[in-house]
Amino acid sequence: MSRTLAILKPDCVRKELIGKVIGHIQSAGFKIAAMKMVKLTPDAAKGFYEVHKERPFFHELISYMTSGPCVPIVLEKDNAVEDFRKLIGATDPAKAEEGTIRKMYAENIQENIIHGSDSDENAAKEIAHFFSRKELLEINGWE
Ligand code: CMP
Repeated sequence: MSRTLAILKPDCVRKELIGKVIGHIQSAGFKIAAMKMVKLTPDAAKGFYEVHKERPFFHELISYMTSGPCVPIVLEKDNAVEDFRKLIGATDPAKAEEGTIRKMYAENIQENIIHGSDSDENAAKEIAHFFSRKELLEINGWE
């Protein structure tokens, strides 16, 4: 069993797509181990997206991610990181495969509805960004 971090981004919350998107995630076999709704401060968003700080879109990205509440979710599944990235599709919805979450709901390469960690190492760091150890529920074995 492995974990990944999803974030339902501010456009997902604004468009009232939280329920639909979580439905796709659960139908694909992911279990929710932790979830909350937060409004990122500019400092928190800059910390989370530190790796992109030299990119030309960095300032726009920070203003988008702080434009409203978002919903970070810790997901558990075998092969969670890779399977979740397949489920959400390419960063740019125009390039995302049919049936992926971004293809169905995202507006453009920036306002792309949802985030998924890109490696197990980054998943662990990103999860720690939003959740304390106590907030991570041991859902493995509930069923
Ligand atoms: P994500 O992959 O979750 O994390 C980095 C985010 O930066 C990405 O989603 C988009 O929201 C945004 N992003 C990536 N590439 C671009 C781009 N070329 N122009 C604008 N925003 C981008």
